[in-house]
Order: sequence, then structure tokens, then C-alpha cells
Amino acid sequence: MCGIVGIVGKREVGTLLVDALKRLEYRGYDSAGIATINNGELGRRRAEGKLVNLETRLADEPLAGTVGIGHTRWATHGAPTERNAHPHFCHGVAVVHNGIIENFAVLRAELTAKGAEFHSQTDTEVVAQLLAAYRSEGLAAREAMHKALSRLEGAYALAVLFEDQPDMILGARSGPPLAVGHGEGEMFLGSDAIALAPFTDKITYLDDGDWAVVTRESLEIYDHSGALVERQSQISRGTAYVVDKGNHRHFMEKEIHEQAEVVSHTLSNYIDFAEGKVRLDTGQLDFANLDRLAMSACGTAYYAGLIGKYWFERFARLPVEIDVASEFRYREMPLTGRMAAMFISQSGETADTLASLRYCRDHSLPIGAVVNVRESTIARESDAVFPTLAGPEIGVASTKAFTCQLSVLAALSMIAGRERGTLSPEDESVMVQALVEAPRLFNEVIRDIEPQIETLSRELARFKDVLYLGRGTNFPLALEGALKLKEISYIHAEGYAAGELKHGPIALIDENMPVIVIAPHDRHFEKTMSNMQEVAARGGQIILITDEKGAEAAPLETMATITLPVVHEIVAPILHALPVQLVAYHTAVFMGTDVDQPRNLAKSVTVE
Ligand code: F6R
Repeated sequence: MCGIVGIVGKREVGTLLVDALKRLEYRGYDSAGIATINNGELGRRRAEGKLVNLETRLADEPLAGTVGIGHTRWATHGAPTERNAHPHFCHGVAVVHNGIIENFAVLRAELTAKGAEFHSQTDTEVVAQLLAAYRSEGLAAREAMHKALSRLEGAYALAVLFEDQPDMILGARSGPPLAVGHGEGEMFLGSDAIALAPFTDKITYLDDGDWAVVTRESLEIYDHSGALVERQSQISRGTAYVVDKGNHRHFMEKEIHEQAEVVSHTLSNYIDFAEGKVRLDTGQLDFANLDRLAMSACGTAYYAGLIGKYWFERFARLPVEIDVASEFRYREMPLTGRMAAMFISQSGETADTLASLRYCRDHSLPIGAVVNVRESTIARESDAVFPTLAGPEIGVASTKAFTCQLSVLAALSMIAGRERGTLSPEDESVMVQALVEAPRLFNEVIRDIEPQIETLSRELARFKDVLYLGRGTNFPLALEGALKLKEISYIHAEGYAAGELKHGPIALIDENMPVIVIAPHDRHFEKTMSNMQEVAARGGQIILITDEKGAEAAPLETMATITLPVVHEIVAPILHALPVQLVAYHTAVFMGTDVDQPRNLAKSVTVE
């Protein structure tokens, strides 16, 4: 959350900083700002709201300079006002920050007692104040930086300018990622490689605890003890992608529509189509000899993991413990017996997921990760990485990353089944065939159901609450449907296991409560239909998402029935994700919300 950039350039950097920030806007969009040094003087422009406001400001009041830093904010401490926008200044020091300084109150009190005057409500300002205080005591820039970092608790990626050092930027990382980009006679800093893509693909990632001194020609990296260290540079893959909406109205629409391509791409990384087998190297995850698999993730990635749990347990007879990462990390789960851990994350930077990973690593578990960003911290700290090849996901609401995560988890559960002797070659071959067919169906399904869903969404937009129900793998999909609808349309929605309905939520059912039932004609179908009858008997309005067999067998009238082709159970949740995503998307479009950047959210959640 929050994106930061820095450029020590050979040309004017004002617009370059804004261009880089545009590529980071997915990390937060409450306010934005840049600072440069021009003729030995710090200057800044900041604006509340989206980056476009900063652009307008800069058009009226340009900012000169070839060295600068920039920030796009997801507010943690202090309202998203211009005063709280970064960069924060203090006596010749400028700071941009991603993360949370947990001991900011103590530091602020200490600095205030010494006469410091604070101008914002942010935690970040203490970093600028602390640096300025150490400089005023006579410390050189590097020493001040090292000393200030030793006082900070919490999570941070920082970029710092010192007015009296106009040819360098200092960066630091503890938690959230920070990448240094190498140019020709110019250097860059950024929250990720995608931000730096227009400038360079040669990237050096700081390790946790590192801080760096970046000039036009050089990069020095120090570890937390202050020792000079070497970090390998690499050519980033992230930079090869073009990040634009194409002919679509929103990134989310584009990302829903490109699922045939990215799921196919992802599957082909794991499946030998000619042999009809899963082909993947599970590395240190010795599925054959595991007693238990621990899984964790957040939000949509967690729901993908929940579906994976059903698959691992059914096809590989491997018990799975799964929990949201914000709980997992503090649960003190006993990690005994022959266990491995698996983490799922689009960004690969989610703070809670990373902390859960580190908990398992500290207990010497082999770690697997399903990640979309190959160079992310979670990927780098895992023993076995299973990439989703979804390409950059820009829409804040996850869509294509989810179906790619499901594709990878399907392949992993199948290989686990093979290795544990619980999935026969015949069954594996049938499942592979089903997965091979899936991407082709995606485009047909979207073409067939989208107009119906667009019309339906106008109806849905009238309601204040929506309930989603499903059994088996359709239960996590119900949770995902509810999450998607609430995050982008702001309609309150809940997902429930259909069997739980009569244990409480049925009390909510009346004609003002549409109920979206996800029920392909699988082994749970009859039971879910009984739950649907219970809803109908209480006047609830039903939207049924099912397959052709289910549509034929459904026992009652619905507000709408969205019908998909009949597919194998391993493909069903991947395919049924499409109507779930489209319902949320079209409802939000109809309601006129900011689909790609819904209020209060950020794409990459690098704070707890
Ligand atoms: C919802 C959504 C979030 C993310 C969650 C985890 O649409 O996108 O719930 O799934 O924040 O993010 P990653 O996968 O980056 O760890």
C-alpha cells in the first residue's frame, strides 16, 4: 500500500516521476506528491485524491529538477488530505514512505519534547524529523540514515532526499519491497519493477533490512548493521508487459476477458497435454510423505486456497489446515509431524501472508508459494515457487489471478494425488483433458452470459444486501462472489455454506434479499436445491448460477438462471468464477462506482 519512486536522472524528472506513479496507483490512490531538488533547493507539489489531481497541479505549477522522489498514498495514519500527503519535509530532508512506523507516537513525543514541530498527522513525518534532528547534530547523510533506521519499528520502504546532497537518493527497506533500477547514467528506485518498466529492466532488489545510497553512476547497499553488501541485479520480467486497458472500459473488464488466455498459459506451464499428465517439479514439497499441508493467504487468494483444500483432501487424501493469514500468523498453530506449507498471493508482498510464511519457515517447514509476481518477497523466500502466469493485474479486485491460482492448485492437487497413489492415471488423464478444454470454454461462456448478466445487474443494483450460497467448492466461490460484489459496488453481501442457511442467515430472507445460489449439477446439487426451496418459501429472490443439467433439474422459478456448460468438477469453480466476477463488475458499472480503484482499497497490502 502506497507506492514510492525515486529518480537520480540526467533529464527533468517531474513528469517521469508521475509516469512511474501511474504504474503504482494500484497500491493506493488517496493522495499523491513529488519532490525534487532544483538549484540546491527542495520543492514539492502534492494533491489530494487521484494522481490526475497532481498532474493538473503540476501542469499549472511545474517542478524542475533532475533528482526527485514521488508517492501515491493509501492512508494509514491521518486523513487523505494534502497536508498528510507525502513527500514530508523537515529542514532540508524529504521523505516518502510505504508501510507503518509502529513506534511513531514514542518518536514523535521524543522529538516534540526537543522542540520539533510536526505539520501532519502521519507516522511518516517522524522519519523526516528524525533525520533532520540527526543532521542538525552534525551527522553526515549516511550516518543519519543508519541511525534513524535503527530507531524505527514497523514496516517501511523509504526514499529520502537531502537538500545538501543533490545528486543522491537514499532508500531503505524493512518489510515492503524496494527495487533499484539501473539506467545509463541515471538510476531509479521504485516499489516494484513495473513502476520502473519505462526506464529500465535491470533491477536490484533490496533484502529485508537493507538500505541503499543511489547516485547517477553508483549503487551502494548496506545491511541493517551498516556493512556494505552485494545484491545481485537481475533482468525483470515484469517490464515486458504492456499495462493498458486496450479497448476495454476498465482494467477489471479486460482482466475478466483475458482469462482464457492467461489460464491457458498458466496451465500449459504445469500440464503435459500430449501425455495427459500433470508435469511439474514440486521441489522440496514431498507430497508423498506429508501428513498435513498448512495453507494461508488473504482475501480472494484465501478463497482460492479454500477451494484448493477441497481438492487436496479429495484427490490426494491430504489433510489441509487453512486460515486467513492475519489469523494464521498469530495462532501459534502447532507445526508437528511431516508438514509442508503453501502460501497464495497475487502480489507476493501481502504482509500477513509473508509473516505466516516466515512463521512456518522458522519451524523448518518446506515452503511452497503460488504467486503472480515472480520477483516478489514471498516468491524469493519460498523453497518451491508455482507461478501463476496471469500477467500484471491492475484492477484492484482480483479476477484473472484467482482463476490462475485455481489452475495451479488444481495441478498441484493432482500431482499430490498421483504421488500419494490416490489419483489413478485414468482419472488424472480425464481431469487433464477437462482442464485443457477449459480455456476454450471461457470465451464462449462470457459471450453467452454477459448480456444476460448486464441486464440482471440493473435489477441487483436496487438491493442493499445480497446473499451468496454454495456447497463444496461452490462455498468458497460464494464467499468470493460476496467479496467481489461488496468491494466494487459497495452493496453489502455475504457468502454462506448453503447448509448453514438454516442456522441463522435464513432469518434475513424476504423479498428484499436476492440470493445468488451457485450450484452446478454436482454431488451437492440436490441438497443445495433444498436450501434454495427454503429461500423461495420465504419470498427470497433467487439467481441461480448452474450448468445445463442443473438448469433442467432446478425445481422452481428463479429471478434469473445463468447457465454454463457441464464440466468436470475440477474445472467447475474455475468456470463458475466468470459469472461471479461479471455480476460484480456489471453491478458496479451500473452503479457508477470506481471499478478499478474502489474506495478505501489498495492492490498490494504491505501493512498489517
Ligand atoms: C479482492 C482482492 C484481495 C486480495 C488480497 C490478497 O478482490 O484482490 O482480497 O486477494 O488482498 O492479495 P495478494 O493475493 O496480493 O496476497
